[in-house]
Amino acid sequence: MNKVIAINGSPRKNGNTAILLQKALDGAASVGAETEMIHLIDLEYKGCISCFACKRKGTRFIGSCALQDDLSPVLEKAMHAQAIILGSPIYLGDVTALMRAFIERFGFINVSYDNKRHNQFAGKINAAFCYTMNVPKLISLLFGYVYMFNKGFLKKLNGTVEMLVCTDTWQFDDYSKYEASNFDVEKKKKVREKVFPRDCEKAYKIGRKLSAAREDG
Ligand SMILES: Cc1cc2nc3c(=O)[nH]c(=O)nc-3n(C[C@H](O)[C@H](O)[C@H](O)COP(=O)(O)O)c2cc1C
Repeated sequence: MNKVIAINGSPRKNGNTAILLQKALDGAASVGAETEMIHLIDLEYKGCISCFACKRKGTRFIGSCALQDDLSPVLEKAMHAQAIILGSPIYLGDVTALMRAFIERFGFINVSYDNKRHNQFAGKINAAFCYTMNVPKLISLLFGYVYMFNKGFLKKLNGTVEMLVCTDTWQFDDYSKYEASNFDVEKKKKVREKVFPRDCEKAYKIGRKLSAAREDG
């Protein structure tokens, strides 16, 4: 099935991350994919509880997670998708807690502790990660965010991996209502009007590429 799933790690369902993810899904739909957006904020779930059911000898949980909660059907869908597009704002220099808990569960079921196998996952899922953040690009580089962007667990899915980094985002509808004098609102406004639409186009193209990459093998 040509299904593309976007997973929103922002608690805001209409924020920057959700907008980019929706554009990526629109791109996927434009080449015939069935698409679905999942907002992690709607779900009750935990990160990995270290039960190791997925690593036990003879386990029936190869490539799946034994912990049953609202994330279980999402993991199942993600493992059977043609492509997954993850998105998260940066919170205090990392992905949100919602996304981190998702990554612990989704990433760990594909990690192999067996030196004969690099990877528990034998299939292929194309993947992308969209990051959004307040800081401008230069500061994101100075802060070393780039090291955090390298999400190795996506490479274990054996498919194409894409990344979109969206900086200097628009955070409030009305900056005058907040104690936020750190920000140059006029500059932010310009970035919102000129740069963000380009990031949306990039997201759209990523969605198309990950969907079309099926036929490329
Ligand atoms: C709790 C919290 C922590 C944040 N920490 C950072 C940060 O460390 N670096 C940064 O560049 N932006 C930070 N931001 C800003 C968000 O990453 C940024 O506004 C993002 O685009 C929000 O995405 P959303 O609109 O999808 O929710 C933070 C925002 C919140 C609410």
